[in-house]
Amino acid sequence: MTAPRKLTLGSARGRELLRRSLLAWYDTHRRDLPWRQDRDPYRVWLSEIMLQQTRVAAVLDHYQAFLRRFPTIEKLAAAREASVLAVWSGLGYYRRARMLHAAAKEIVREHAGKFPSTAEQWRQLPGIGRYTAAAIASIACGEPVAVVDGNVERVLGRLLDQHLAGEGLWQAAGELLAARRPGDFNQAMMELGATVCLARQPRCLVCPVFRCCATQGDVEKRGPKPKQKKREIHYALDCQDGSVFLTERPADAALMPGMWELPEISSQDDPSSAWLTLRHSITTTDYVVRVRRARAFPETKGRWILRRRLRTLALTGLARKILRAAGFEE
Ligand code: ADE
Repeated sequence: MTAPRKLTLGSARGRELLRRSLLAWYDTHRRDLPWRQDRDPYRVWLSEIMLQQTRVAAVLDHYQAFLRRFPTIEKLAAAREASVLAVWSGLGYYRRARMLHAAAKEIVREHAGKFPSTAEQWRQLPGIGRYTAAAIASIACGEPVAVVDGNVERVLGRLLDQHLAGEGLWQAAGELLAARRPGDFNQAMMELGATVCLARQPRCLVCPVFRCCATQGDVEKRGPKPKQKKREIHYALDCQDGSVFLTERPADAALMPGMWELPEISSQDDPSSAWLTLRHSITTTDYVVRVRRARAFPETKGRWILRRRLRTLALTGLARKILRAAGFEE
């Protein structure tokens, strides 16, 4: 038996085979994700903002909780920023939540709640760049525009066996795009990168577009994952009469401005004296977090926060994790 011939993507036939094979695979193998149930622009937009810088698994819980709290764009636009940040708590990159909120207000106030219908219009809104605008417009509005994210960049590089960058990448993605189903095609490319065409170990044996791939597994093997940095951090947990003492991060802090957390204390104590120890990772750093039942330093500015207020307070993800582990917040 002879192996099926390799079809290059330089030919119209090769590109059409890629589109058909990829879409057929996506129809049967795609992950059942909540934002794929319909093409509602509010839900698609929210998913794309949450998926910026965050893995699908981490987004799942927050996505449903956010929609329960703010089921419509009108509810989101009318909310206080602190309530939006409270529901976002734990997802990180809080600027995304502020921008989402600002964009919701703009759509409601200036466009009577009517969503944009093209990528160009989406891009005018806060927090929406070229990738996000194209993703939303193709998925929710059916506009034939291609997306390029990290996964798509890797898939394209291998399919074409070319090192593409910048505008060349967007152009290559646009030439392959299935214009009749742009949203599905874009998601299929991302899905292929996330589940089959993996960075370290591509699963070429199960790849639906192996026949059209220029590299067919002959890919550069990248070295081991870069090592995470390690840090230890100490906090004081002071609970009295159903309240906990918390501090607000400065409004001009580079990370998580204006969010609430436990007061940090010095770390020279014996680690075994910690009342609670847990682990927490933020981007490239793994933290060992030690919590002591102690007063904050006297000069620490802060406030006593009632337990029942915690649910709607803009806590950092780590503060919420500590308070839950301590049994202070459900
Ligand atoms: N990453 C960002 N958006 C995505 C989507 N709609 N499907 C899969 N991965 C994604």
